[in-house]
Amino acid sequence: MDLGLKGKVALVTACSGGMGRNIALALAAEGAHVALFARSRDKLEALAADIERLHGVHALPCPGDMREAADADRLAATLEREFGGLDVAVLNTGRAPVPLRATVDETDGERWDAAYRTQLWGAIQIAQRVHPLMGAAGPGRIIAVTSASVQQPMPHHALSTVFRAGVTAYLKHLANELGARGITVNCVAPALIETPHRTGVAAYTAEQAQARKKMNVLQRMGSQEEVCAAVVFLASRQAGFITGSTLRLDGGMVGTLF
Ligand SMILES: NC(=O)c1ccc[n+]([C@@H]2O[C@H](COP(=O)([O-])OP(=O)(O)OC[C@H]3O[C@@H](n4cnc5c(N)ncnc54)[C@H](OP(=O)(O)O)[C@@H]3O)[C@@H](O)[C@H]2O)c1
Repeated sequence: MDLGLKGKVALVTACSGGMGRNIALALAAEGAHVALFARSRDKLEALAADIERLHGVHALPCPGDMREAADADRLAATLEREFGGLDVAVLNTGRAPVPLRATVDETDGERWDAAYRTQLWGAIQIAQRVHPLMGAAGPGRIIAVTSASVQQPMPHHALSTVFRAGVTAYLKHLANELGARGITVNCVAPALIETPHRTGVAAYTAEQAQARKKMNVLQRMGSQEEVCAAVVFLASRQAGFITGSTLRLDGGMVGTLF
């Protein structure tokens, strides 16, 4: 199926590793040119080289920190100068502080502040800068990576759940305001996705990791490929009538009907 992404321009934030990196590769595999935003310049340059070699599209490293206004400004200016606009923005973010803690033990204001700036404010700053670049040459797509914990809070995830609920609310407002310009705004809400940790601090103990596999009806962890496929679908032409929605990838963990 032609997803209508060939020649489109896609931004992926927080993409020097992990899920963001895989999403950038998946969009490039569909023929989209990609702008790559994260703090590690060397990793972005290596990823851009891989993408151009594998998929023959233009991949542009845009080093920067989502929490910094000046970096968000520079990103928007770069997108306008290099691509003349933007079609798809995937708002992935860094993780909440580790190690994860029970809610009653989350008493450290610095951890709350770090989670707020990384997961909510960073996503808002980028969304604010990039939506004006969209819609001139066809429909725009904004897709945020949140968490299924927003619908069913998971143990030890308060720092993440609180601010991803904020992202979900912010995107719903944006969807309402940007729809008339042909821009769709949606969330992908994963949970229990197999992801190697790179911070040197394991997010989960061995027992917690084992217990996580039992937290959904499929009794396994989800794959990166499954998350990427959902993002690519929401970015596609065919997803044009979906906006203000959240697509959960949780193996059936959330027990509600909707
Ligand atoms: N695995 C799951 O089941 C699951 C479920 C729900 C949600 N999530 C969320 O999905 C997101 C991606 O997860 P992951 O496992 O791929 O994380 P990861 O491997 O730790 O990668 C995080 C990425 O974020 C970038 N980053 C961090 N802070 C940044 C900042 N201030 N500005 C720009 N880029 C920044 C990092 O690059 P630099 O260090 O180079 O900046 C890195 O590329 C996380 O927010 C995670 O909490 C995961």
